[in-house]
Amino acid sequence: MEDLLVDGHGRRISDLRVSVTDRCNFRCQYCMPADGLPWLDRTAVLTFEEIERLVRIFASLGVTDLRLTGGEPLVRRDFPRLVGMLSRVEGLDDVSLTTNGYLLERDAAALVEAGINRVNVSIDSLQRDRFFQITRRDSLPQVLRGLDELAKHPEVHPIKVNAVAIRGFTEQEAIPFAEFARSTAFQVRFIEFMPLDADHAWSADQVLTGEELRQIIDAVHPIEELPREPSATARVFRFRDGTGEIGFINPVSEPFCSDCNRIRLTAEGKLRTCLFSIHETDLREPLRSGATDADIERVIRDAVWRKELKHNVGEPGFRQPPRSMSAIGG
Ligand code: 5AD
Ligand code: SF4
Repeated sequence: MEDLLVDGHGRRISDLRVSVTDRCNFRCQYCMPADGLPWLDRTAVLTFEEIERLVRIFASLGVTDLRLTGGEPLVRRDFPRLVGMLSRVEGLDDVSLTTNGYLLERDAAALVEAGINRVNVSIDSLQRDRFFQITRRDSLPQVLRGLDELAKHPEVHPIKVNAVAIRGFTEQEAIPFAEFARSTAFQVRFIEFMPLDADHAWSADQVLTGEELRQIIDAVHPIEELPREPSATARVFRFRDGTGEIGFINPVSEPFCSDCNRIRLTAEGKLRTCLFSIHETDLREPLRSGATDADIERVIRDAVWRKELKHNVGEPGFRQPPRSMSAIGG
């Protein structure tokens, strides 16, 4: 492999997140408006072949970790077939998925067969009415069935449950999730609420920090921190008196930009070098106008070189990007 992908701040880029659709069957408060968003036209969305070609180019530049996201990836027709195509791309060590879990009961076996290595399922509450309140869908039982279906496949490891941490809501979820982490093989992660909601209603005071959650949990079930892996976004803890793992992803209170190794591709083929990018780079146009792999590689290298030093969430002058999380991919 010749020159690996690096940005202008000396960071090596090895992790690509691909949003395979902007559509979603949930309407989480912190992501989408109640009525949904205007979906992309189907012709605007990259085809499986286009995604595969781009992933192959990224892998040839040193991307080893691929995460598939949405919207909700499982609502994309034939999604397991895409997973099969991508898990065969040379150079990838890891193909993972972030899903809301609603369709996992249907798709778990096909996804495992297609080569998914790791899965994150988003669950913000383990209580049905509170799950409904956040997602605007009364679907907790369906999601938990999906999780259990997936857990039948030991090839998928780890399976993580991610909860967005919102002040005034998630305090009450801390202990139930800690007990869930202690009594199951699922790893639990709390993610601080970020300004990526379509309603632009985010404010800093609505962020429940990882440190606050850690204290709530530690008071009941003492925890101790595990060594941090390089480029890991989560602080991960174990319970002092038993099994289970719980982690805190603190992008707002403790930004981890300085060792960020990630870039993102939207469903319509825009390359984003930060979750909070204002500028993005179109890869679909070159793809569809006969560009060679070398041409596309040049466009990618140039965009990655200009990757943002850091996000400025919570600082004066911060501008929330026009896209919501569902249109970026988590
Ligand atoms: N802040 C933090 N996390 C978010 N997610 C969606 N919107 C936000 C937000 N505003 C999470 C989802 C899912 C992943 C794709 O991103 O809960 O776990
Ligand atoms: Fe859908 Fe995920 Fe956004 Fe919830 S957070 S609305 S599940 S894309």
